[in-house]
Amino acid sequence: MQGKVDCVIGLCFGDEGKGKIVDYLSKNYDIVARFGGGDNAGHTIFKDEQKIVLHLIPSGILNSKIINIIGNGVVINPIAFKKEVEMLESLGVDVRSRLIISDKAHIITPIHIATDLDNEKVAKIGTTGKGIGPCYTDKISRNGLRVCDLLADDLIIKNLSDLDLPNISEFIEACEYLKMFNIQKTEILINEYLNQGKSILAEGAQAAGLDVEFGTYPYVTSSSTTTSGVCSGLGISPKKIGTIYGIIKAYTTRVGNGPFITELFDDVGECISKKGQEVGSTTGRKRRCGWLDLDQVKYASMICGVDEIIMTKSDVLSGFEKVKIYNNGQYSELQGWHSLSATHIPSEFLNFIEVIESSLHIPITTVSTGVGRDDIVKLEKQLQK
Ligand code: GDP
Ligand code: IMO
Ligand code: MG
Repeated sequence: MQGKVDCVIGLCFGDEGKGKIVDYLSKNYDIVARFGGGDNAGHTIFKDEQKIVLHLIPSGILNSKIINIIGNGVVINPIAFKKEVEMLESLGVDVRSRLIISDKAHIITPIHIATDLDNEKVAKIGTTGKGIGPCYTDKISRNGLRVCDLLADDLIIKNLSDLDLPNISEFIEACEYLKMFNIQKTEILINEYLNQGKSILAEGAQAAGLDVEFGTYPYVTSSSTTTSGVCSGLGISPKKIGTIYGIIKAYTTRVGNGPFITELFDDVGECISKKGQEVGSTTGRKRRCGWLDLDQVKYASMICGVDEIIMTKSDVLSGFEKVKIYNNGQYSELQGWHSLSATHIPSEFLNFIEVIESSLHIPITTVSTGVGRDDIVKLEKQLQK
């Protein structure tokens, strides 16, 4: 039987908890593959109380049975890559034997980073400053540098070393380091795996609200973060896509600039920010906080073809007398809940879930109730009344 590629996609503006959910779901898969973005992503997983933030390496890496793939749609900063591998190895994680990198992934150079920071002075998108936009710009304008170029031609690295840039020697060293990893035509490998009946989980980075086509342009990232990005970013046919999991928080956050309809500027926003520890995993910037924007979730679910919704951070909304949902251009107010955990799901929270489901016509199948690996619960039983 042919294997399928299931997808984990953020439906809002990033940081929905994709890392935690991929780590949780990964036990059901043979392979986890990142299909887009770069080290602008910050995916947090808690393992044995240890907080691990992944930027480039797929969130299946903490599950020792899983092969992890960095697909062709990803942009790789070799310096960030080296740091991340070293961080994981210092924690005893075997990365080298379980990570495969696409030969077609593009390389972020120090020039891309300098250009990103320069562009920000005018455009003020509030980027992560990781060189993402300029790297994808070079890719599309056919001037990019790919992983296969590093392998093919030592001259390229030599020419780069002649550039007068502050950290060029660190960059060159990191390129040499990257070359030592398992680099393959991952699009062929992935399709072979599927023919063998293996199951693949595609890990989204960023989210639909930041998608270059369907996000809040120009306040977006420079890649396709929606389900269509899975096909182009891994080299698979849409026919191979299986279940599409849309990830949302119980509220909304956004880092960087751009429209945010439900943003809260009052004590409630401040309280969500504090309780949810809403600080960017990549840049340390404070995340803007607001009520759940169902109009955004509805639009994103349509674009992505979401089959199931997984909601994270439901615990953060505990303790509010009333909670709000923004739907069809207006707010509705619902009864809040006092406390919530994987073993205690209050009826007020189930009502919150049902209101969302009846508007989206998509089931919320799983709810995350805390940062830990065990803080998660499947909802089917509770909902079958
Ligand atoms: P990602 O970019 O989508 O992977 O999300 P991030 O890792 O950037 O941000 C999500 C943050 O929320 C991380 O700090 C997680 O540890 C945390 N988190 C995930 N799920 C939950 C949850 O259910 N409750 C709480 N309180 N925190 C969570
Ligand atoms: P994860 O995968 C939240 C935002 C930036 C900025 C815009 C463009 O952790 O959810 P870029 O550096 O990509 O050119 O910045 O996109 N952004 C993210 N916000 N989570 C992310 O990733 C993000 N990646 C980029 O803050 O507004
Ligand atoms: Mg993040």
